[in-house]
Amino acid sequence: MQAKINFNAGPAALPPEVLHEAAKAVNKYKKTGLSILELPHRGPEFAEILAESKHLVKKLCGLDDNYEALWLQGGGRQQFCMIPMNFLPQDGAAGYIETGHWAEEAQQYAAFYGSAQVLASSKKTNYNRLPEWPAKIPAKLAYMHITTNNTIYGTQWGQVPEPKAPLIADMSSDIFSRKHDYSKYALFYAAAQKNLGIAGVALAVIRKDLLKRAARELPPMLSYSEQVKEGSILNTANVFGVYVSLLMLRWIESRGISAIEKENKQKAKLLYDTLDSSNVFVPYVTEKAHRSLMNVCFTAKTPEAEKKLLALCEENDITGIKGHRSVGGFRASIYNAVPLDWVERLVEIMKSVS
Ligand SMILES: Cc1ncc(COP(=O)(O)O)c(C=O)c1O
Repeated sequence: MQAKINFNAGPAALPPEVLHEAAKAVNKYKKTGLSILELPHRGPEFAEILAESKHLVKKLCGLDDNYEALWLQGGGRQQFCMIPMNFLPQDGAAGYIETGHWAEEAQQYAAFYGSAQVLASSKKTNYNRLPEWPAKIPAKLAYMHITTNNTIYGTQWGQVPEPKAPLIADMSSDIFSRKHDYSKYALFYAAAQKNLGIAGVALAVIRKDLLKRAARELPPMLSYSEQVKEGSILNTANVFGVYVSLLMLRWIESRGISAIEKENKQKAKLLYDTLDSSNVFVPYVTEKAHRSLMNVCFTAKTPEAEKKLLALCEENDITGIKGHRSVGGFRASIYNAVPLDWVERLVEIMKSVS
């Protein structure tokens, strides 16, 4: 299978078992005599894939039939658009918590449709921390939007306070990575290419009462209600992408969220402990309570140390470690599929840089 240790932020590492099953299905899907790549999106086999995947999403999130799970296209950014299109009336207001590039972009997309107020922001410190949760939430917000994990900077909300407005969350980079109270949210979504499969698929989970709040007439493709009505096959679905997400969901269920969370904490602790005691590397997020379990960002104190670590990573078949251009340095994305021994290998190499 894969030869490299992969710390990419997304598309990200996939578990070998998932890759193996996906490869088998590309060759031949069950007894259909077809590859999964040729499977009709309105046939019985894809209907089964959809039903099982939606069932597993709700089961893993501990949600009942008050919620609908949808597989959509257009990645995270299309959700940035669909949310205000569907729920932000032209004369209404929504609140956004600005915790990074993606949160900013979500707010900017919303501003096309109504008032998108920034309720709190950590932009001033280039998002190396989370802002204080806003003490006062304006009355009558159509919704409030947060990003639970900030992929580029490596911050993550722990416990999210009880919402005073319908709460919407971008969980693209931490869905299913820990025990979480998903029932707090009126809607949450995730582009699949990090913890949930491959690019080209986005999951949106929506509470049914929100569907009744349509802010404007929309073409069906962009309307959550129409997508729900058509059961995620309004247009030609990404059959393979949804199948890979189903394989991921089965893998998550077989390991259990508690075990996954425990290992995620171990991996993150190993990296942060190494950074906190290093004379060579510096963690980007110093506030420990704000640190992400999924993306660990750091810089080197000297250009020589930076070059040395990059060269050692290359020599040791470690890929995807370069930080995002807006932060620089390094980023280890340690999603669910990244095993502890990969992190141990990285730490060993980091310790050899002087
Ligand atoms: C938290 C978060 N939201 C949204 C996106 C954008 O997703 P997409 O490229 O699928 O539009 C990303 C991409 O990395 C992300 O990390």
